[in-house]
Amino acid sequence: MTRGKQMTIQKVKRSVSVFFLLLCTGCSEIPAVFRPASISAKVTSELIQTVFIISAIGFVVVESILLFTVFKYRSADNSKEIPPQIEGNRRLEIIWTTAVTVILAVIFIISLNPLWIISYPPASKSGASSTENLNIQVIGRQWYWEFDYLDYQVNTANELHIPVGVPVMFELVSADVIHSFWVPELSGKIDVIPGHTNRIWIQAEKPGIYEGQCAEFCGVEHAHMRMLVIAESKEQFEAWLLHQQTVPKADLTSDETEGELLFLSGSCSSCHSIKGTEADGTQGPDLTHFASRTTFAGGSFQNTPENISKWLKNPQEMKPGNQMPNLGLSDNDIRLLQAYLENLK
Ligand code: CUA
Repeated sequence: MTRGKQMTIQKVKRSVSVFFLLLCTGCSEIPAVFRPASISAKVTSELIQTVFIISAIGFVVVESILLFTVFKYRSADNSKEIPPQIEGNRRLEIIWTTAVTVILAVIFIISLNPLWIISYPPASKSGASSTENLNIQVIGRQWYWEFDYLDYQVNTANELHIPVGVPVMFELVSADVIHSFWVPELSGKIDVIPGHTNRIWIQAEKPGIYEGQCAEFCGVEHAHMRMLVIAESKEQFEAWLLHQQTVPKADLTSDETEGELLFLSGSCSSCHSIKGTEADGTQGPDLTHFASRTTFAGGSFQNTPENISKWLKNPQEMKPGNQMPNLGLSDNDIRLLQAYLENLK
């Protein structure tokens, strides 16, 4: 065997092992798109897998022919002579044009049913509960998600509650730039565009907490624009919805009362709303039931007393570029505000 040949074989071996290594890095955890928990995510996941298998077969066939040709017809002993040139082969051209056309036509045909399912929710069953065909407006904002339960005067942020087994209709709009709504286990991506309403429907099949993420670069904190979708039984969901419609409890401790006064007199209330108070700002998330959420700031941080204190001390340090400025609050103000916010269950 010549030295050139040995080197070529070594190179091929190395490339093949790198390829399989890359394949195996994906084995540790199955990506969420392959763990669908809704009707539309299920058909999408199945379609991805079918198209992947078709593409993999195509890849293996084409690469095998390529490798076979390269090795079989390589020039002997590095000869500098140009081999006989061939131009055109009608039969071959017809074969590969037809093969590609047939493959693409098959992919098109098998995509039609999933597309149909994704586009149209199942017809609503008459006589069902009041939250049948729930309408939720999703507003993408730099950098958090606002959820408006249109028929229930409920407005929340970053944590979306939906009932299981019911088609939920979403209309998506943006308050600033283009975002993209994506909860891999529940739906495909859909752009959230200023001045244009997009629609999507989701029917969760299993209760659970599903993570979502903005999937379109939308500025410096794009990566911190997350959300949680909490899919729960109809009864749990209706209880949650009912609670969200209430105003937070009135009997506050003296610290909480001072915190509320601070909230209402300071700049907090010009950006945030709290039901039952004069705070009616719309720039930032509605905080009416802030303490009932597990995360804050675009789903980026756990809603713990330590994190709230840190946030109030300087929001720009935790999430640089966000719309909440450093208010220069004293440690005592932070303590009072935190006491008040933690009471907003
Ligand atoms: Cu919003 Cu990325």
